[in-house]
Amino acid sequence: MKILFVADVFGAPGRRAVETRLPSLREELGADFCIVNGENAAAGRGITAKLADKILASGADVITLGNWTWGQSEFAPYLSGTDRVLRPANLSPRTPGIGLAVHDGVAVISLLGVFSLDPFESPFVTIDRLVDEASAQTPVIVLDFHAEATSEKVAMARYLDGRVTAVLGTHTHVQTSDARVLKGGTAAITDAGMTGPHDSVIGSDEHNALKRFLTGMPTRLEPASGDVRIEGALVECTADGRATSCTAVRVEIEP
Ligand SMILES: [Fe+2]
Repeated sequence: MKILFVADVFGAPGRRAVETRLPSLREELGADFCIVNGENAAAGRGITAKLADKILASGADVITLGNWTWGQSEFAPYLSGTDRVLRPANLSPRTPGIGLAVHDGVAVISLLGVFSLDPFESPFVTIDRLVDEASAQTPVIVLDFHAEATSEKVAMARYLDGRVTAVLGTHTHVQTSDARVLKGGTAAITDAGMTGPHDSVIGSDEHNALKRFLTGMPTRLEPASGDVRIEGALVECTADGRATSCTAVRVEIEP
């Protein structure tokens, strides 16, 4: 089985890349299942119902989120009525949505890291429960671990080695060159990158991003536009959920 993971879709350029290129990319790569992280789809801050529906219609089986889950205030009710869009499982259980769903024999989990993102519960506590719950339904389990720190993401991959199919890091928007299969058969990449404009500061317009760093004043960031790419990872696994390959994906869309 081949699972295509599309990293953080950022703003209109990222959405356009998904809409125009994901269907053919899925076909070219022979992907049986596709997961898209959509937490930055709405101008870098969260996602809306309309945008989620468009990404699903473009070929995503499941959309995962992250620290911008509540970035669009009207989105919360949508989460109550879907098992195709997942919020991090370690947010408060008193919020709408779920963090684990199984479709077509693939369990997808969304989880938020501790460092600088302040989840409700430690992901290292939540994940044991979720892996038990997922394993009861299918051996193919993919975690989108949305976290800032490289160390935390590497630690999670090692903690889950042999228990899940893949641990795919997101959030930093910079793809790491460590796509690999660990000893126990778990595919891992510390960060799968960003689907959006790379002529930018992690997706945002350079001018405003620099102004923030140079002045320390709050500055509204806008999505940039150049060097649009789809980034992510392709994981191949056997029917028992063991990964056999893990490859970084990078597809140029617009100069
Ligand atoms: Fe994020």
